[in-house]
Amino acid sequence: MTKLWGGRFKQGTAADVEDYTQSVSYDSALYDQDIRGSQAHARMLARQGVLTQEEAQILTDGLDKIRADIEDETFSWKKEMEDVHMNIESRLTELVGDVGKKLHTGRSRNDQVALDFRLFVSDRLRVWHELCVKLAAGFLAQAKKHRQTLLPGCTHMQPAQPVSLAQHLLAYAWMFTRDAERLIDCEKRTRISPLGAAALAGTTYPLDPALVAEQLGMYGTFHNSMDAVSDRDFVLEALFCASTIMMHLSRFCEEIIYWANPAFGFVRLPDAYATGSSIMPQKKNPDVAELMRGKVGRVYGNLTAMLTILKGLPLTYNRDLQEDKEPFLDTDTTVSASLSLMEGQLAALTFDTERMNDALRKGFLNATELADYLVGKGIPFREAHNITGHAVALAEDRGVRLEELQLSDLKNLCDRIEEDVYGVLDYAAAVARRNAPGGTGPQSVARQISDLEAWLAGAAGTFSK
Ligand code: ARG
Repeated sequence: MTKLWGGRFKQGTAADVEDYTQSVSYDSALYDQDIRGSQAHARMLARQGVLTQEEAQILTDGLDKIRADIEDETFSWKKEMEDVHMNIESRLTELVGDVGKKLHTGRSRNDQVALDFRLFVSDRLRVWHELCVKLAAGFLAQAKKHRQTLLPGCTHMQPAQPVSLAQHLLAYAWMFTRDAERLIDCEKRTRISPLGAAALAGTTYPLDPALVAEQLGMYGTFHNSMDAVSDRDFVLEALFCASTIMMHLSRFCEEIIYWANPAFGFVRLPDAYATGSSIMPQKKNPDVAELMRGKVGRVYGNLTAMLTILKGLPLTYNRDLQEDKEPFLDTDTTVSASLSLMEGQLAALTFDTERMNDALRKGFLNATELADYLVGKGIPFREAHNITGHAVALAEDRGVRLEELQLSDLKNLCDRIEEDVYGVLDYAAAVARRNAPGGTGPQSVARQISDLEAWLAGAAGTFSK
């Protein structure tokens, strides 16, 4: 079979070289973007008088037919044709005859692949965005059900202060709003057309890159042909966004995993999201959460791979750049599945509010309340901290909770302590007092809920093109 670039070659490509250099086995995923790009290019060539309207019509119709064949799985992908671009172009010429050979006028695979991949990545960023928004909404929905549920908030994985489960879940909702916003920002730089840069130096044909960009729903065009064909910053940015999403997911996975351990018993895993053990009949394992935590490794690896591929590459296009596809495709599979699985799993989680409430009573979570109470009685904070430390030590010695110490014991530590201290030591009261902006108090949580609802309403119409 003759290569589209075969003119100057006397011998065929070695079979193992063909295997080694081909990308069609994975870049066929870009077929739709390749066809959209070629159709926009053909129409622009006709507008500019480089092709006739009839020729452009034949090309775009032929490309529609190819898209249909690909989607029906009747298209035969050929490794000898190297990549998605040459598979489609050679098939087009088979279908429509010599006019097919005019499609590539004023274009190189270098600007073509950059265009296709920018469209592909930005299309996927939109999907990830939608999934992040849905997940943030999922955390919000669970939070709304648990405004009254309290659990130990931790630092250093040690009981610290009581918080509402709503506050805990809303923390995750906010993470995914940031992820969604990062994706919008990344998409703006990704959805820029490099078409017209040609191989590296621009072209002599009277192309109109802005028209192509406009037709493809892109935000603008390249400034410099050499940069346009060699820039893959958008891939790095997308992989960084994905890495952050996966990192956020893995943090909640970790909470699910230890909350599901009977020693905590804070959450009941839905059967649909757990698996059993082949030897231990009692087991119900949080495999989805574990696997999701594990898959972060592959996404970080892809980011690292891409950073490494780009390092030290001289201008302009280098074949190394073909290695940009697989890390992204693999990341896309992982991130898309993880976000949507987490949304389903989150909705199906049931929280054991009793167990959470019981846990509040372990670990002196109301110690800060006692210190603040003493400050309220005019004692400097450092001193209050110290007195409270002694109260904790006393309670620990006696095997009781702070609120179980007698008033006389407390008075021995500080004579300004009165009967009203017991109301202050109440866990729900401790949460209820924290209504400063962003705190765990009910009014603060209500404000967060309405802020999130407003954010979600605005997130619907985010992409203008
Ligand atoms: N398959 C190639 C890639 O993904 C397309 C561009 C090839 N360009 C070239 N000059 N060989 O990078």
